[in-house]
Amino acid sequence: MSTETEKVEKTPLNPKDIRRVKIFCIIIGTINILCVILMTIFWSIYDYLIILGLGMLTTVPAFFANAGMTFAGTYRGVGRPIDGGRNFIDGKRILGNGKTWKGFLGGILIGSTLSWLLFLVYLALQIGLPPPGSVRWLQVHQVTRTEIFNIFIAPPPLNLILRTILLSVGACVGDLVGSFFKRRFKRERGTQFPLLDQLDFLLMAYLFAYAFFPIRWYYILVISIFTPLVAILANIIAYAIGKKDVPW
Ligand code: CTP
Ligand code: MG
Repeated sequence: MSTETEKVEKTPLNPKDIRRVKIFCIIIGTINILCVILMTIFWSIYDYLIILGLGMLTTVPAFFANAGMTFAGTYRGVGRPIDGGRNFIDGKRILGNGKTWKGFLGGILIGSTLSWLLFLVYLALQIGLPPPGSVRWLQVHQVTRTEIFNIFIAPPPLNLILRTILLSVGACVGDLVGSFFKRRFKRERGTQFPLLDQLDFLLMAYLFAYAFFPIRWYYILVISIFTPLVAILANIIAYAIGKKDVPW
């Protein structure tokens, strides 16, 4: 958001920015289609879907934290910037006004608690796994049902609490790191930076959680390819219905 006020006002968009968004959509769309085709050829479409589904389920705290930062950061007025308004040695802001304590701490809190609630719902509904033999990937990769059940569907409580906190903290730290680099590349607050904008929180969340919960590499790959597509589409929709002042 480019305005300091809470109200979102549509400002004329720069044609260069619009072109950038279009090109980004085409590239990331194509990469996703290639990913589905390749995985279907080497494994099967069910393998793709189950890796995507389980991957999203594992990553949910990072997504909640990411959305939570914007929600908390813009809730009831503008918060105090984390960098205290200070500049870096290059004369540009360290992080910028878009990174506030309210958003950072709110993101961690929202990311963790919403994920616990979601997993409680899973447990209450007793959502299980498809019957043995129905998913080839389980056999191909010799992932045991117990492993899947423990990691994704009903992790032990301590594991779940730690993992959701690590993923949430990682996401919020990653968002700060992303903005730090955007400022170093002289991009003002609220301007787009394709890939960095969509992946900073995600990759840092994995890095934070990885030491405790090794996530197989193909989950990280599939989710990292899928996330920018969802993020950019969500932003375009949010712009179209007037919830954002820029479509990125
Ligand atoms: N936000 C916040 N504190 C954070 C992260 C986000 O207050 N730690 C709020 C800010 O109001 C911010 C909005 O959420 O404007 C959207 O977040 P984001 O897109 O990450 O920030 P930008 O304003 O685009 O800034 P940047 O260019 O640094 O990404
Ligand atoms: Mg932004």
